[in-house]
Amino acid sequence: METMNPLRQDLPPAAVPQPCCVVLFGATGDLTQRKLVPALYNLARQGFLPAGFTIVGAARRDWSDDQFREEMHAAVSEHSRHKPVLPEVWRDFARNVFYQRVRFDEEADYAALRERLDTLAARRQTPGHRLYYLATAPEYFAPVAGHLHAASLVTAPHESAWSRLVVEKPFGTDLASARELNRRLHAAFDESQIFRIDHYLGKETVQNILALRFANAIFEPVWNRRYVDHVQITVAERVGMEGRRGQYYDTAGATRDMVQNHMMQLLSLVAMEPPGAIDARAIRDEKLKVVRAIQPLVGPGATGAWVRGQYGPGTFARQPMKGYRQEEEVAADSRTETYAALRLYVDTWRWSGVPFYLRTGKRLPKRLTEIAIQFRSPPKAMFASAEQLPQAPNQLVLRVQPDEGISLSFEAKVPGMRMKLQPVRMDFRYGSSFGGDSPEAYERLLLDAMLGDATLFTGADEVDYSWQLISPLLDAWSASEPPSFPNYEAGTWGPAKADQLFPEASSHWRRL
Ligand code: BG6
Repeated sequence: METMNPLRQDLPPAAVPQPCCVVLFGATGDLTQRKLVPALYNLARQGFLPAGFTIVGAARRDWSDDQFREEMHAAVSEHSRHKPVLPEVWRDFARNVFYQRVRFDEEADYAALRERLDTLAARRQTPGHRLYYLATAPEYFAPVAGHLHAASLVTAPHESAWSRLVVEKPFGTDLASARELNRRLHAAFDESQIFRIDHYLGKETVQNILALRFANAIFEPVWNRRYVDHVQITVAERVGMEGRRGQYYDTAGATRDMVQNHMMQLLSLVAMEPPGAIDARAIRDEKLKVVRAIQPLVGPGATGAWVRGQYGPGTFARQPMKGYRQEEEVAADSRTETYAALRLYVDTWRWSGVPFYLRTGKRLPKRLTEIAIQFRSPPKAMFASAEQLPQAPNQLVLRVQPDEGISLSFEAKVPGMRMKLQPVRMDFRYGSSFGGDSPEAYERLLLDAMLGDATLFTGADEVDYSWQLISPLLDAWSASEPPSFPNYEAGTWGPAKADQLFPEASSHWRRL
């Protein structure tokens, strides 16, 4: 445990990255402070970063290096998973941290940035490898990439000094804007240099889906339509619109914010065929086939179904809670959905006819992400009797967060003189099996980007196909009658209508 051994090391990476410079665009923003710099500090603390590693914060404000270092020290103190900040580690780390003012639309600022990066590389005797991280507002993604290219800050893939670009979400707001963004990024960077981040792929338990499925022989034979009745993927959040979050969220909604990216990734990992190897190419290819095989949600041939919701006022632990439309920066007549539930079909040989149910929402009763595989019932009800409840189908539940683990439920005989059955669980918990905490998603992903390993990043095609599925749904929503929002109370499990997604009365959402 952390308190017993403050220097407990995480499992080290297979390789240490080459000396490189991480340029953080949007360095004064929330993501840099809450996630990126704490993640880099934690990597440094564990000795996972190379000598000569450099961070350059780039943003509009006119800060000095020291001012940036001070701000980052405060950010790491507050947000690092390792507390307190170790003074000797921080001293070494802060020596590698610099700040350069860059107004994202000012061509001249990129020339100045280039000079600064060249000087730093020469002084620190590093070979000029650069990772540009776009932690800016999305409207700057394409302009920054374009300016970097125009200022000769981007090397070609075959050159010895590498350039890579990490792009945050949202990756477009619909199919057309995602395509346009891809087009503009590709004008500046080769696809092999672009790392589209989806932080769900950095979560230990999400990567464990691959281990569970492909490092064990017992699951794969039953992982298909013959044995699986349906799959439920839930990403429930307790949070609402903290602070000024409504400003972004009211333009996005649950489907853009969570379904198009994070939930599609979870679905792809669960549904994909075994890849030829655990590498970027093979895994991306298989995930892509899943997204391409999802049946359309609207229009001709549509087989799926959906429910959208928005929270109204409610209570949490007896505390009154605002409705979404009363939140800061949210329109008083907003039609944005804070809840979405979908029934999807992945039309492949393996999954034909098996429904995948996805649900996500804000202001639900708890924070919980899980994937539940529900198996078919036995062909004959051998133990049916008057006192016997209907048998619960076997469920394999992958708990992504919190309380990470995997459980398998099955029927067992209750001890005694009669044959009475009751569901029980076999449980694996990360905490008790491995101890300690897992690295933050951003630690793993930043390290992988520095190493050039794109396995846990999203390819351009994947983004395109997931928008091909989601965009028509969003279009249909905006063209239809305004929904009667709000339709669920804050602190409840979403609109009642979501239960109707299950065509059979015997199936329903898991009670969590
Ligand atoms: C982000 C969304 O991508 O993921 C947020 O924009 C959401 O709205 C968050 O709260 C959830 O991430 P996590 O890691 O807390 O499940």
